[in-house]
Amino acid sequence: MSGADHAIKRGGALMLALHVTAYGRPPVAVKDAPRPSPSPGSTLVRMSAVALGHLDRTVASGTFPAAPAPPYIPCGDGAGRVVESESFPAGALVWIRGGGLGVTRGGVAAQYALVPDAACHLAPPGADELLAACFFSPATSAHVAVHDLGRVQAGTRVLVSGAAGAVGSLAVQLALAAGARVDAMVSKPERAMLVPQGARVTSGAGPYDLFIDTVGGPALSERLDLVAAGGRAVLLGYTQGSRVELDLPRRMAHDVELLFLNMQRRAPQAFGVAGELLTRLSRGDLRLNLSCYPLEQAGLAWQALADGSAAGRVVLQL
Ligand SMILES: NC(=O)c1ccc[n+]([C@@H]2O[C@H](COP(=O)([O-])OP(=O)(O)OC[C@H]3O[C@@H](n4cnc5c(N)ncnc54)[C@H](OP(=O)(O)O)[C@@H]3O)[C@@H](O)[C@H]2O)c1
Repeated sequence: MSGADHAIKRGGALMLALHVTAYGRPPVAVKDAPRPSPSPGSTLVRMSAVALGHLDRTVASGTFPAAPAPPYIPCGDGAGRVVESESFPAGALVWIRGGGLGVTRGGVAAQYALVPDAACHLAPPGADELLAACFFSPATSAHVAVHDLGRVQAGTRVLVSGAAGAVGSLAVQLALAAGARVDAMVSKPERAMLVPQGARVTSGAGPYDLFIDTVGGPALSERLDLVAAGGRAVLLGYTQGSRVELDLPRRMAHDVELLFLNMQRRAPQAFGVAGELLTRLSRGDLRLNLSCYPLEQAGLAWQALADGSAAGRVVLQL
């Protein structure tokens, strides 16, 4: 086991941590977890907050290939202050992402985490600690969808589904900031209040130049019809279903590009824009709704994530 592997061992100083004790069960907060010791090539971080996301639930379900064996500490995204490091100054705010943390090895949902230096990223001046913990996936995914795949410009007519979600609401804001005209779809009327100002909530009026689909499912087929011939659709999520039937002659005649977003492959673009996006979020130029819970209430947070009642990114505070 390497120094940065957060497998759970007894002995030494203790800390508060979240443990997945068995696949298929919500994690539990424990007060007597062993505190990690500094190790070369890794940074010891006093964690401020961690993000709890759909991927963490999948890993804890035991269905994910190469998931760590219980008991393990979940969550790969977080932020905190450097305690000891060869690469970062003590006291600096770092956000954490990468290295398989919380996915193929133990994660960072604990008061202290030993993080491989390559998975630690210095936060820009003025960065907000809670946003630093959870911004990366939704903000960079929205950015790549809007700018790299969607090629949004001033006047582009854009439709975003799941527009009350973390990625969807940021896609709306980034498109608006680029001068696009944005329509937003939500799954339930009560979610409309979470759609960023400046977008029109609609069931889809069309025609659009670009459709950013964060929910997928069978409705994708008819929603493609809302895009003008020659336009584009970017699919990045499938919470409404992983299958769709396409009428191929109709699709060919319609000539709409259907683009799939895979952020694993687009990591270089994501890391390239992450600092700027965290600055814009921390300044309030972009907004990301957060549902914050103390680590001890991780069970409630887990449930809210599972039943879709959480508004925005779920964050556990330490
Ligand atoms: N392709 C990639 O590389 C990539 C990268 C990042 C994220 N994603 C995916 O993008 C999707 C959105 O991520 P997110 O962080 O924005 O998640 P989120 O904040 O939880 O939002 C999920 C959205 O999905 C919608 N939804 C529709 N049916 C749903 C259901 N049955 N259960 C839960 N949500 C449902 C909701 O729409 P309403 O708001 O209208 O209720 C909600 O806005 C996720 O599926 C995520 O896995 C993919």
